Amino acid sequence: MCGIVGYIGESKAKGLVIDGLKRLEYRGYDSAGIAICIDGKIEIKKEKGKIENLEKIIGDPAFDGNVAIGHTRWATHGVPSATNAHPHRSMSGKIAVVHNGIIENYEEIREELKGSGVKFLSETDTEVIAQLIGSLYDGDLLVAVRKAVARFRGAYAIGVVASDEPDRIVAVRKDAPLIVGLGKDGNFISSDVPAILKQTRDVYFINNDETVLLTKDEVKIFDDDGNPVTHQVQHIDWDVNSAEKGGYDHFMIKEINEQPKGIYDTLHQRLQDDGSIKLDGISLTKEDIENISKIYIVACGTAYHAGIVGKYIIEKIVKIPVEVDIASEFRYRDSFVDEHTLFIAISQSGETLDTLEALREAKRKGARVLSVVNVVGSSVARESDDVFYTWAGPEIAVASTKAYTTQLVCMYLIALYMASHKGNIDKAYYDKIVNGLKEIPDKLSRLLEKQADIGKIAKKYYGWDKIFFVGRGQDVGVSYEGALKLKEISYINAYAIAAGELKHGTIALMDDHTLVIALATQDGLFEKMISNIEEITAREAHVMGLAKESNTKIGKFVEDEIYIPDCIDELTPLLSVVPLQIFAYYVAKERGCDIDKPKNLAKSVTVE
Ligand code: M6R
Repeated sequence: MCGIVGYIGESKAKGLVIDGLKRLEYRGYDSAGIAICIDGKIEIKKEKGKIENLEKIIGDPAFDGNVAIGHTRWATHGVPSATNAHPHRSMSGKIAVVHNGIIENYEEIREELKGSGVKFLSETDTEVIAQLIGSLYDGDLLVAVRKAVARFRGAYAIGVVASDEPDRIVAVRKDAPLIVGLGKDGNFISSDVPAILKQTRDVYFINNDETVLLTKDEVKIFDDDGNPVTHQVQHIDWDVNSAEKGGYDHFMIKEINEQPKGIYDTLHQRLQDDGSIKLDGISLTKEDIENISKIYIVACGTAYHAGIVGKYIIEKIVKIPVEVDIASEFRYRDSFVDEHTLFIAISQSGETLDTLEALREAKRKGARVLSVVNVVGSSVARESDDVFYTWAGPEIAVASTKAYTTQLVCMYLIALYMASHKGNIDKAYYDKIVNGLKEIPDKLSRLLEKQADIGKIAKKYYGWDKIFFVGRGQDVGVSYEGALKLKEISYINAYAIAAGELKHGTIALMDDHTLVIALATQDGLFEKMISNIEEITAREAHVMGLAKESNTKIGKFVEDEIYIPDCIDELTPLLSVVPLQIFAYYVAKERGCDIDKPKNLAKSVTVE
């Protein structure tokens, strides 16, 4: 969603802020803007569409200074337009604001301000922030921001500058990401690390309800009551290249190819030489595990699909009942969560508001919260009792790929850890899974060599507009993920369903204009899937089959087939999803879609 970048320091701010905004493009946006403090005034330029559109109108070298705040907007209140784009300013022109999130009570404040003569130019909730700060401003920006924020309900990260105090930026957050970067000759605010990684690796992760005052030389952080607080500087050790395309056409295909490494890194160090599992960040004891009678896995989108597979894995290995829920639904139903519940939140970004709110609800009800998160220091991580990090590295493409496979690895590791502590797993079975996991990175590298073949199949079907994904057991969750990948980047109407459920209604849609991608990756369910494939082909639909290398028999029943390396049935989801990601990628490429930034989507969804 919206991206914020601000800089104050010795250097010229415009280039740094624009460069930072470009690195936040992956979050999704429809307009962009920048405010710069120049000669005691705030100059603002903004434009609808891509950042390149904004660059066309800010070329003048005189339009620059040492303090600037910039923004990429993903419309919530009001259409995408230059008028609604951020920054917004107060009527006096002295205050400019950028904002990520939603102010839920903005209408009430707007009416009140209108009543006192304030004129509004846009339809946005953000302009209300600027106008309210403007009306409260009495020469001290920090004080005015704190007073204004006390009025807001909702989620926000806000950056503010004032023309009368050009030596400072004030920022504040509640339920939307905000970090501070400590540069060599100045300081930054940003929504995410990649925006400032080229300038600095030293950051503060700002907590909810904290306000930050940045000058070129120092950064002061205050808690909700205005008391100064100290934060540890966090050093980011990502390779800068991992946030760049590195020769690939798109981040998505780069990230697909990074999966063997992501899986290796996530396993590595957690799997000890003696086969035991050390879960850093998790302090669940044998006693804690014995106290758990039920597990909820809650997440959104791709992370939710990892949870569906996680249910199969955990129930099979740990033998504790697992419910999987969509985060936006979880908190609006009467879930049976209590102090015997382990609540597992899965989130790549760790900033998804639906997941965060579900987590808080589970905590209120007494659950122990364990999160599986990729972004270090994110909100979900900070609000959990235990955090288990996926080591996928930064995921930039909106379509999640390497985060998903590393989330799956975490499901296996958590299951094995719990089962071995409970003492209810047979040693031979435990070793079989651990040894199988260790082989996955190499098997995946071998599978990735088939990209060109999958690309050829994609060329055959990219024009089709009705594509189904079917499977049984663990393959159901993988089918959901395959369909989501295809629809979000290629805009094809893709649909996933449990293969056995087809005959209860959906099979009515099968005809010779339908492609069905049938996942038959588990030996134990292979014959049943062949029967389902026969039902489908009898209705003249076309079938592409996905099976293990040793199950070549599938070739007799389908038009196209893709084989994954052999592995035990329990581990096939780690391999089977990858051809589906590659298929979606090449279909979208053939269709000329904007693969890394699909329309209407945002990478980090910080609104409900
Ligand atoms: O950051 P999160 O894992 O919490 O994000 C959850 C979903 O928004 C995300 O997986 C989304 O579905 C992706 N676009 C899928 O590719």
